[in-house]
Amino acid sequence: ARCVVAVDGPSGSGKSTVSRRLATALDGVYLDTGAMYRAVTWAVLQAGVDLQDPEAIAKIAQETELSIGTDPVAPHFFANGTNVDGPIRGPEVTGAVSAVAAVPAVRRLLVEQQRALIAGTVRIVVEGRDISSVVAPDADLKVYLTASAAARAQRRSAEDATDVAATQADLARRDRLDSSRATDPLRQADDAVEVDTTGMGIDEVVSHLLDLLNS
Ligand code: CDP
Repeated sequence: ARCVVAVDGPSGSGKSTVSRRLATALDGVYLDTGAMYRAVTWAVLQAGVDLQDPEAIAKIAQETELSIGTDPVAPHFFANGTNVDGPIRGPEVTGAVSAVAAVPAVRRLLVEQQRALIAGTVRIVVEGRDISSVVAPDADLKVYLTASAAARAQRRSAEDATDVAATQADLARRDRLDSSRATDPLRQADDAVEVDTTGMGIDEVVSHLLDLLNS
């Protein structure tokens, strides 16, 4: 049977790791919508466009050819033929992505690509900020992952070897921008199941989601 799982939540909630593991367990594919916003942001920075200029940002987004890997074990991302797996996780892109993701024309373009990608699959786990509310409101399972601000900062700084306090400040900055933007802000959809992963291990979260899916 077809199966679409939507996983939303703020950074450091465990979304990516959990979504990839769940996709593997379901023998399905994985879509990292954050990587799409990050890849467009990479192209915007390459083009040297002013981050205050939504029209210029939208134009770059339209001209950028994205190739989004959906293998949950090793997803690879390309923008205009360049592999951007490394740079999209760097501080420049992380610093600019919320501004690019706030541009309505960018969201329209990427949501359309995301829906087309989902429509072409049988089993897929999609992670992001607006999957339950906008991209796939009729998903079979909708989850909102949370964790305490401290736990989220700790996980993220362990991943990229940055200072915990600086990471916590950066996550708070991005949460604020992502939750307050005018178009499709980060929020928990009314019918999404909230899972607080503070103090939970990855395996525990994944098996909880499999239980929810089978119940
Ligand atoms: O991995 P992390 O949670 O740090 O971020 P991400 O999932 O890679 O998303 C990066 C940024 O893209 C977020 O801070 C949002 O500004 C934006 N985003 C979005 O607006 N909508 C999505 N569906 C996914 C990401």
